Amino acid sequence: MTMKKILVKDFSKSSTDFSRQDYEDIVLALQYYGHCYYTLDEPEISDAEYDKLYRLLIEVEKLHNDWILPDSPSLKIGGEVRKVFESVKHDPPMMSLDNITEETQLIEFHERVFKTLKLSDKNKNTFLYHAEPKFDGLAIDLIYKNGILVSGSTRGDGDTGEDITHNIKTVRNIPLKLMIDHAPELLSIRGECVMTYEAFDALNKELEKNEKKLFANPRNAAAGSLRQQDSKIAASRDLYFFPYSIGKVIENESSASHLSCPKTQAEIYKTYFPALGFKVSPEIKSGNINDIADHFRLIMERRSLLKFDIDGIVVKVNDIGLWESLGITSKYPRYAIAYKFPARSAITKLLDVSFQTGRTGIVTPVAHLKPVNVGGVMIRRASLHNMREIERLNVHIGDMVEVIRAGDVIPKVESLVEHDVQNAKLIKAPENCPECHEKLVVEDIFLRCVNRNCRGRKVASLKYFASKDGLDIDGLGAEWIEKLYDLKKINDFCDIFYLNEEALTGIDGMGEILRQNMLRSISEKKNITLEVFIKSLGITNVGARISELIAENYQSLDEIISTSQEQFNEIHEIGPIIAQSLYEYFHDEENIRVIKKLLKSGFTVIAPEKKSLTDLPLKGEVFVFTGTLTGLKRDEAQKLVKKLGAKTGASISSQTTCLVYGENAGSKLKKADEASIKKMSEEEFINLLNQLSGDKGNT
Ligand code: IVH
Repeated sequence: MTMKKILVKDFSKSSTDFSRQDYEDIVLALQYYGHCYYTLDEPEISDAEYDKLYRLLIEVEKLHNDWILPDSPSLKIGGEVRKVFESVKHDPPMMSLDNITEETQLIEFHERVFKTLKLSDKNKNTFLYHAEPKFDGLAIDLIYKNGILVSGSTRGDGDTGEDITHNIKTVRNIPLKLMIDHAPELLSIRGECVMTYEAFDALNKELEKNEKKLFANPRNAAAGSLRQQDSKIAASRDLYFFPYSIGKVIENESSASHLSCPKTQAEIYKTYFPALGFKVSPEIKSGNINDIADHFRLIMERRSLLKFDIDGIVVKVNDIGLWESLGITSKYPRYAIAYKFPARSAITKLLDVSFQTGRTGIVTPVAHLKPVNVGGVMIRRASLHNMREIERLNVHIGDMVEVIRAGDVIPKVESLVEHDVQNAKLIKAPENCPECHEKLVVEDIFLRCVNRNCRGRKVASLKYFASKDGLDIDGLGAEWIEKLYDLKKINDFCDIFYLNEEALTGIDGMGEILRQNMLRSISEKKNITLEVFIKSLGITNVGARISELIAENYQSLDEIISTSQEQFNEIHEIGPIIAQSLYEYFHDEENIRVIKKLLKSGFTVIAPEKKSLTDLPLKGEVFVFTGTLTGLKRDEAQKLVKKLGAKTGASISSQTTCLVYGENAGSKLKKADEASIKKMSEEEFINLLNQLSGDKGNT
């Protein structure tokens, strides 16, 4: 690898004093740090340091236009506008894959491979396949000439695609220059460009704010972003590229000896792509056909934990030497197959629509559906969001509609399939709150109940407070909240912490075990970080990210309560709307009364401790996570250890100091043992986190 580490302090002089060599060193340094960040997931410098260096690069490039290198990281911010997309002929064509959805079909595929290759049945359990995610994005072909990215194009019809090089160059983890010293004369790398769920949600929120058309799913958002004329737009969208195959290689004399030709698909993923500077998906598996079937089930379970949408796995014969003998059908290669997850959409009848009052008073239409199985889950209800959405979908009661489940979210009605002209009934917006019957107020596209004592609002905010998005009180589920509210045992969230044996005695359906569990779960949540507490209040427009920001900027609830709207607005990332929500919430007498009563109950909010970077407790540690974590998502776990000073890695390396394993952990456990790396179960990990974040002052 040629990525050499260059320290930021080397560039402390004024940009006018820079030599061409200095400029080239900045390019190399930024490439190195960008690679650590985007490809290895192990940033070596802070964002601020990176930005500083980046600004320097731009200054020098402005002064010396003629120095700009074809692989300068400045190309990542885009700027090039292309009015027309030229056609690009793919050589060889970009084929598609045959699809299966059942395990029996996977076995049939295995049988066909054996038959075609005339292999002996006795090798059936040792024959290796490679499984990798089937990314749901836009297929891309990248062409590198002598190591420099010269073209990026869409798959198109497989033979001919569109030249979108200007946009491709802005994708964060696509190297503009390959990391090997003697690159082939020509190398084409194929893969998929995808958008994270997080980026997709943020993008749609932004589009909604600007009253623009929303994207239906991350795939469309990725494709739409890459087909823009102005590459600044693609640059602003959080896109990632995952390579999955090599299209073509033309070696020159010096390259041939440097980059040995991979013999297996596993080698392509594990050695070849990373050596070139590409990030590969860690969700891969080599094994016999039964291992692959197990892997499919595991990935299907883990699907909702992934940052990206995948719609199945691609199973490939691992030994590349056999691909040619397996041949191709008219459309597909016979060495690979796409094993797809069951559909996550289904068609059913819209039986009725009811209206539900949420914690902020917004009244949401809910579709009642004829029960239907969507990707293994029976769906009876789906969200219709608001009246404008109903108009947009043009659905009526009695129509046949398509329902989808995307990620872990509540199912939603996606489209109208068939309108029942004879019997369909119009969906009418209610005038009064379905819960408290007060007159509703129309606010933009929303209907809102403004009665703060409305049962619907109160129960919904209590449910939210105790839910996974709030304090996560395990033994206090939504049904119990409703029951306890109706029995007048709880009215506000502070009352939850005043519940005791006596209050919970004599309640229908509550036995001794349940009561003890509930009281234990509640008392376990008596010490909560400021961030979690803010999040659990369910303040309008204040979710996880804003709560995190608040906790970063304030030490106590008292400080927050005495903050003005303008001061909230001054926090980076907090705009006037959120500032107003925060201010109004913390200046409402009733809210303050409830918070004060809560603090009197023995409930404590742990103040965030400001630590200097050098004395963070996990400094020097490199954590790797494997298997399914049940208590928290992997990216949350990574964030938490990073906050405590540790770095994280995707795979076990010589730098790894600790492996945290969840359920169904795979080969990393063995690797960690072999390398004598400390291992920790999820439970031990949580204990460690609790220990490290303990001993802090209470507000
Ligand atoms: S291999 C000849 N591997 O699926 C084999 N394709 O239906 C070429 N895809 O257009 C494809 N993830 O865009 C391969 N790990 C993966 C993939 C993958 C997603 C897409 C690809 C292709 C389509 C084939």
